[in-house]
Amino acid sequence: MPKLDIEQFACLYDNYAVLIHDEEAGVTASIDAPDADTILERLNATGWRLTHLLITHHHGDHTGGNLQLKEATGCTIIGPRSEADRIPGIDRGVGEGDSIPFGGFEIRVLDTPGHTVGHIAYWIPEARVAFVGDTLFAMGAGRIFEGSAEMMWNSLKKIMELPRDTEIYCGHEYTAANAKFALTVDPENPALQNRAKEVDQLRAKGKATLPTRLDRELETNPFLRPHVSAIRAKLGMLHAPDWQVFAEIRERKNKA
Ligand SMILES: [Fe+2]
Repeated sequence: MPKLDIEQFACLYDNYAVLIHDEEAGVTASIDAPDADTILERLNATGWRLTHLLITHHHGDHTGGNLQLKEATGCTIIGPRSEADRIPGIDRGVGEGDSIPFGGFEIRVLDTPGHTVGHIAYWIPEARVAFVGDTLFAMGAGRIFEGSAEMMWNSLKKIMELPRDTEIYCGHEYTAANAKFALTVDPENPALQNRAKEVDQLRAKGKATLPTRLDRELETNPFLRPHVSAIRAKLGMLHAPDWQVFAEIRERKNKA
């Protein structure tokens, strides 16, 4: 079985960049490009050669380093087909059902629209890992800038159906604020209470709270729990469809 090395590191204000590497095949990918200099420094430290840049969506804090990275490394830039005109240097557009060969692995593409209408996630089933950009966060979900609440809910449902032990890498360190908000809609959830404390301790030491794991999110992330009766009761929405409960949680978080 091939081995996938993964390095996550902070970029810009609260973004994360992630490098994945298959040593045997000599391939390395960066998930998004918040900041070329920081990514090049990390490549230098690891001795890895960047072969792929995998973009989740067109926002500047995910694509700002594209051209500099391409010039410095000659990497191939892959990103959402439907946002290709807004992704600098893109070589290949991909969408749902596409797969990208990566050394001994196959990277599968999922369409996860909502934050932007072309947003995609990258899933590597064999490595039990997914890179979800700004769709899902630890105890949170992305803001809906271009899509609708129903569209975003369907994207989250797709992620919820991945194997429960999938490690989830997200675009930003928003966890502490997300935990604080999550407790306002799901205050009696002991798993959430414990996790909020753990997050405070990690952040007090300046440590990352990511990656997360799908099973932890299913237990503690209110955006993935609109079916839970305690949350429905708290919102006064006992009989609404899941996506409407999700939309109300999103709305409240926007105002928090
Ligand atoms: Fe974004």
